[in-house]
Amino acid sequence: MRSTDVAFEKIETESAWKGSEVDYRAEMMHRFTADEVAEVDAALKACGERDIPEITTATFPLPGLGPTMKRLRDGLLDGRGVLLMRGFPRDRYTADEMARVYIGLGAHLGRPLAQSWQGQLLGSVIDISDVVEKVRGYNAGGGQHFHIDGSACDIVSLMCLRAAKSGGASRIVSVAALYNWFVEHRPDLLQVLMRGYYHRNHEMDAQHSLQPPQSAGRIPVFAIRDGRISCVIDTGCLRYAVHFGGVTLTPEEVEAYDVLQAQARSEEFFLDMNFEAGDIQFLNNRAVMHGRTDYEDHDDVERRRHLLRLWLHVPDWPARPDDQIFMTLGDCHHWARRRTPFMDMPTEYLARLTAEQEERRRRQTVLPRLAPSQRYRSAGDWQPEAQPASAG
Ligand SMILES: [Fe+2]
Repeated sequence: MRSTDVAFEKIETESAWKGSEVDYRAEMMHRFTADEVAEVDAALKACGERDIPEITTATFPLPGLGPTMKRLRDGLLDGRGVLLMRGFPRDRYTADEMARVYIGLGAHLGRPLAQSWQGQLLGSVIDISDVVEKVRGYNAGGGQHFHIDGSACDIVSLMCLRAAKSGGASRIVSVAALYNWFVEHRPDLLQVLMRGYYHRNHEMDAQHSLQPPQSAGRIPVFAIRDGRISCVIDTGCLRYAVHFGGVTLTPEEVEAYDVLQAQARSEEFFLDMNFEAGDIQFLNNRAVMHGRTDYEDHDDVERRRHLLRLWLHVPDWPARPDDQIFMTLGDCHHWARRRTPFMDMPTEYLARLTAEQEERRRRQTVLPRLAPSQRYRSAGDWQPEAQPASAG
């Protein structure tokens, strides 16, 4: 142990788990019963062809499963922070029906938020980097570094519409377990992480944001309130602050970031969840970092690994610490105004992308597929001269 002026205490709650020690099927999974599937099916029929903002607990009623969802949500706040719902029969439903099932279930946990300046309430996580220029990380291929999604989001969630040819597991890690490792082994770097990093928004999000593109001060990576840990870390936002915001990282800041990622990547800490079609994963976006493993995909867009993503705000939960809020609820509400009806439903989305892919093939303008996470191994690589070809 290295000397430090501040005494940190370990977090000894269920939120501190190690991937090497938990069996997610036993501790983090809810398998749909036949009655629950029937109840969701009835709710879907009652919901009809509604668009996302009109799918609520009233229009997607779940008299039996709804209270169960509330109980499972308590586990996201004060338990393991991870919930996998498995066993919903994907093959009986169209992609849009699955989307409505997903949004309907999510409505019983929280309220959907817009996920970018484009206003989508339902994100599509799929590699379209050869079809669309300058895509973000969730629209590129390859693995992903561990991160937390936007700070306005309380629960980040994925539903698997189609799995990859191979690979592409969701890789998650407990923030509290990592924090405890730093308490024990590197309290000097923990001080650096508690002070945090400057964040800078993705360019287009920033242009449509209600606030300046760069955080006014450093945002703590870890904060603790009422015994609960809250984490903010986004490799892209940190990197943009260096690339475009005049920020220079100290050697200690580089080391703290690198050690955090290295520990998260170690087999002791992370947990891989392989997605099956129809799986729905909900994560506490303060207490669990997520990334994914590399994967092999299909050529045709309509056959590729395709996950749907929800960001949920939970009004009943205690707010995230003020000094960790960079993306605000106001930003998300502002972005949502740009949404057009049904634009983010998967059938329409895939039809649009498939047409663009065919057009590029015809014109021979297919772009090289990107896997941005493979470009930077260390925060020390984020030099101003290494301009990114795409957002991270
Ligand atoms: Fe993410």
